Amino acid sequence: MKYHKALGLLLVSTQALLINAEKVTFKVLAVNGQPTLNINGQKIQMESPYYPLFEAEADVSQFPVQYNYSIDYGNGETKDEAFTRKREQNEDALNEFFDRQITILNHPRLPRAYEELDTLELSKLYDDNYVATIIVKCDENQLNDLYQNTSNTAVKAQVIYASPYAVKTFNDAQILISGQSTRQVPKLSYKIKNLKNDKGKELYNRSTIKLRAEHMDPSLIRDKLYGDILNSIGLPAAQNRFARLFINGESIGLFNLTDDITSKSYLEATFNKGKQFSDEDYSLFKGDFCPSCESPGFGDLGYYGEDPTNGMYAIYSYKGSDKKANAEEHFIKEFLPLLKGIQDYDTSGDASKMPFDIDTFLKYMAMEFIAGGVDNYWNKPGNFYVFKDLKKNQWYFHDSDFHFTFGCGGSVTAMKTTPLAEYPPLLEENVGKERPPLDAIRKSPENEEKFKGIFQRLLNTAFHPKAIYPRIDSLANLIREDVEWDIPLPKVNPNPTLDTDLKFTMEDFNSHVTEEIDVENDDRMPIKSFLSTRINNLVQELGIQVPTEFENNLGLVDFSSIEGEDTSNAISRIMISITSWKLFIIPTFLTILYVKLFY
Ligand SMILES: *[C@@H]1O[C@H](CO)[C@@H](O)[C@H](O)[C@H]1NC(C)=O
Ligand SMILES: *[C@@H]1O[C@H](CO)[C@@H](O)[C@H](O)[C@H]1NC(C)=O
Ligand SMILES: *[C@@H]1O[C@H](CO)[C@@H](O)[C@H](O)[C@H]1NC(C)=O
Ligand SMILES: *[C@@H]1O[C@H](CO)[C@@H](O)[C@H](O)[C@H]1NC(C)=O
Repeated sequence: MKYHKALGLLLVSTQALLINAEKVTFKVLAVNGQPTLNINGQKIQMESPYYPLFEAEADVSQFPVQYNYSIDYGNGETKDEAFTRKREQNEDALNEFFDRQITILNHPRLPRAYEELDTLELSKLYDDNYVATIIVKCDENQLNDLYQNTSNTAVKAQVIYASPYAVKTFNDAQILISGQSTRQVPKLSYKIKNLKNDKGKELYNRSTIKLRAEHMDPSLIRDKLYGDILNSIGLPAAQNRFARLFINGESIGLFNLTDDITSKSYLEATFNKGKQFSDEDYSLFKGDFCPSCESPGFGDLGYYGEDPTNGMYAIYSYKGSDKKANAEEHFIKEFLPLLKGIQDYDTSGDASKMPFDIDTFLKYMAMEFIAGGVDNYWNKPGNFYVFKDLKKNQWYFHDSDFHFTFGCGGSVTAMKTTPLAEYPPLLEENVGKERPPLDAIRKSPENEEKFKGIFQRLLNTAFHPKAIYPRIDSLANLIREDVEWDIPLPKVNPNPTLDTDLKFTMEDFNSHVTEEIDVENDDRMPIKSFLSTRINNLVQELGIQVPTEFENNLGLVDFSSIEGEDTSNAISRIMISITSWKLFIIPTFLTILYVKLFY
């Protein structure tokens, strides 16, 4: 009997351990080294089904279970995560990232100001609830040559894109340095091309992406935020998400993964519902701003006669892909008629002559005004594209480059205080206030009323403090750990000549994303400080009000539920249910045995 009792007790405790035990899968992404799972006092060596994913299974009887990972770098160095992770029962086994606590963060969504662009096909690539990981492998010497001369041609590379849901490998990709003046700064920006896997599949329908460093913004979220609001307004916008970058095993830093506006895959997704464009189906031009250049100019979209060699036309460049005609021929055939059309609209007031959609243009300008786009069309005519769907005979204005916004990029006081009636402030010698398409549109009192209505609608929706502030906080929370990782990393440019002393700290980051008090600083100020002054001034000038609560009669902008492969982790769910079924049999068997022995 004594023996039986002892055995009974033993079985009871075994049963307690196993009664609800499940085999649970844990997955971690590790760029270097061999990870171990630390759980229930055990250290479980992890296996790699494919790089950079590592997996292990553990028996778990109590949820939430606490665990974390360690890495052995193989050179005598190891690293333990300094925090505890938690997994609830039935929670998906996502690909976690070593040493980052946040795998997924569901951001508060912005209310939609206007209907979504009807030619848009969203890409799963821009699910923004996590920081993606990009791992590049390429020839080290070629890479160093690229850093020495950033104009060098692309270097062949293997590029891995890893998310909490999937790992995608592209063996035939190419990497090069992107940007203009940013080629001189310490943290370089990259372009990755030819993202097609062995089966010809692209990265969620994008074959080219940019990784923008944008060292000039201590908050690191301004461009993303601007793009989010453009999405809420339903305007064409390069999409944007955060990604950490590693090259040849080295940590490079946190970047903006964004669209390359000139890439056909982007244009198709934005203007053609993802369907293919042939080279002759569309035309694309870029307008720049350079009043101090050798041949000074700025892209005000004004008509300066039929002579294509006019100095004011030198600032535009053809960015389409049709090689059958040269750039000048495209300019004459496509771009000049656009400028002429704007002029005809201006002189006749006949809206049918206006090549741009008037509402769309006004919405972009309202956005520039509220967000303080110091480097954008209305203030400095440049930094935009114009796109034409040749088959539909339809032009679109396409704004771009939003790092100098929300109180960053200089002239902050002017951006914050210049009233609508006097905008733009005259910040540049030899650049006046004339913006031909906008001036022509605003001649009509009806359009002026429309413009005011757009401001009101934006303040009621995406710019409402109760909508945008929590989103700013959440975006900042998502990247805070990665910013902390990025700041001390050595920067790769061997010969930086610009902004070499521009070094931001965690304190700058935190103040730029959290503070709201009015600050006098003409170079840069916290996002909310800028917005609250800007909005207060606008509301007073127009005699309008910001409602107590935001409106969401058109719903919320949601990028996390975009359909596409890899959204659910069906496979690991199935594994859990099969193993728990096995484990169910064992305790039941033990219970029967126990009952038999005891009675
Ligand atoms: C890491 O996880 C193990 C196992 O759960 C735990 O004992 C340890 O305290 C954790 N480390 C930290 C820093 O939380
Ligand atoms: C850099 O590379 C470009 C393109 O390959 C070349 O034209 C230029 O001369 C190079 N510059 C230097 C300093 O080597
Ligand atoms: C790619 O585009 C196709 C066609 O528009 C669409 O059906 C598909 O869902 C897209 N795939 C991803 C992964 O976004
Ligand atoms: C993203 O780009 C914008 C400007 O284009 C910049 O404000 C921001 O700092 C960038 N963020 C990161 C993580 O590189």
